[in-house]
Amino acid sequence: QRRYGFVVVANRLPLDRTTDERGEQCWTRSPGGLVSALEPIARSAGGAWVGWTGSPDDATEPFEADGVYLRTVPLSGEEVDRYYEGQSNSTIWPLFHHAVEQPTHRREWRVAYEAVNRRFAEAAAEVADDGATVWVHDYQLLRLPQLLRDLRPDLRIGFFLHIPFPPVELFMQLPRRAELLRGLLGADLVGFQQPLAAQNFLRLTAELLGLQPHGEQVEHQGRTVTARAFPISIDVSEIDQMAADPEVQAEARQLRRELGGDRRLVLGVDRLDYTKGIEQRIEAYGELLADGTVSNDEAVLVQVATPSRQRVAQYQQLRERVEREVGRINGQFGDVGRVPVQYLFQSRSREELVALYLAADVMLVTPLRDGMNLVAKEYVAARRDEGGALVLSEFTGAADELHGAFLINPYDVEELKRGISTAMRADPEELTGRMRRMREQVREHDVDHWAQAFLRALGRPALRTA
Ligand code: UDP
Ligand code: G6P
Repeated sequence: QRRYGFVVVANRLPLDRTTDERGEQCWTRSPGGLVSALEPIARSAGGAWVGWTGSPDDATEPFEADGVYLRTVPLSGEEVDRYYEGQSNSTIWPLFHHAVEQPTHRREWRVAYEAVNRRFAEAAAEVADDGATVWVHDYQLLRLPQLLRDLRPDLRIGFFLHIPFPPVELFMQLPRRAELLRGLLGADLVGFQQPLAAQNFLRLTAELLGLQPHGEQVEHQGRTVTARAFPISIDVSEIDQMAADPEVQAEARQLRRELGGDRRLVLGVDRLDYTKGIEQRIEAYGELLADGTVSNDEAVLVQVATPSRQRVAQYQQLRERVEREVGRINGQFGDVGRVPVQYLFQSRSREELVALYLAADVMLVTPLRDGMNLVAKEYVAARRDEGGALVLSEFTGAADELHGAFLINPYDVEELKRGISTAMRADPEELTGRMRRMREQVREHDVDHWAQAFLRALGRPALRTA
């Protein structure tokens, strides 16, 4: 067994084992922002990545891809049910997103979560070299830092949470909450998307374990644990290159022609997830059509709703509600060959998304709660022409940084409607000014900047990732 000085641990590997239309197994890029951000870092740093392939009972042996050793952790069907769909995505995900949907608590889910976290810890312990840097990611692995430290006290362990960290009052609802918190305290550095999340965490250590935080640090079992915000970002040069590609630009022009050249293109791109505010957004757009503020000839809403966690009941119900509403709006306000809402229940490649970003006059990013939201940053990075407008929910991490956006409260349908119509009709000069500011921010804070800041705070600045 070869051992590595730098190890990433995340529930998912960067590659996802899926079944194509012909029923054949193939590898695609894994969904979501975690992989978008980490994949370029891992590729340039090398080392190992410990994770799951996304399929139950998949016995794929560890292998190397793009200079990274992918250490697979197989999960049985029951573990996928209980650890992934249960405890991770029906308990922790909704609770950490400030309970925008009701979290469910089941003992057998929690037990499976512990067992799978232990298995991931054992795999990480096996591939990590003496004194290695191990970087653990996200809410599926909250117990892992402590379990790993018990096995390997020599390691330097960092943890980054990609989603929000809830207020103390909400965290308190979790069964065995102290055990979960102790899991995180096994790390030397715990990173969050926003300063408020780090504060919630530090307050929790005081209220739940009676610790006494000093500034951003807390002493636990004779060690110092630091909690700080490190807002994540995107690989700006990768998006920029795609946006400069003549083929992608031609694709963007083609899209506009197909949608009706003179119509304004309003765009949403999200995993079909109840945290993303897709329902509220479509409802607001429907009201704009109903009250005549926007007409079907004037504009079209394209919503990419990428399939996600499809076996979880709350996701199935969301899909039904969204599709019913899209059908209602298109039935009521559409014409033959021209519908107001183009709904795509599909995953799109990054090139296809960049073409859509380039074509879109208005980008709608309106989550009810989101740790960061990389789609917002990708839209900005793609707009080399300094065109386009971003309507952004104030409940995203991105809202802390993208001051040129039209900020809205997605729970307020009037505000949402106003945001959309204002962005649609804004003066082009004003939009250029706004986009310029946002592009500067994103350029200066790209994903490499994020990784370097985190690793420096972990005391491992020597790791080159650029
Ligand atoms: N994405 C993609 N194809 C899709 C939808 C999304 O490649 O069909 C990518 C998108 O480019 C972005 C990431 O998935 O990099 C979504 O990250 P975000 O932070 O916006 O949301 P998350 O899905 O992580 O909650
Ligand atoms: C979000 C989470 C990630 C997760 C991704 C996709 O970005 O923070 O941890 O990987 O969504 O979700 P999935 O359940 O398909 O891995």
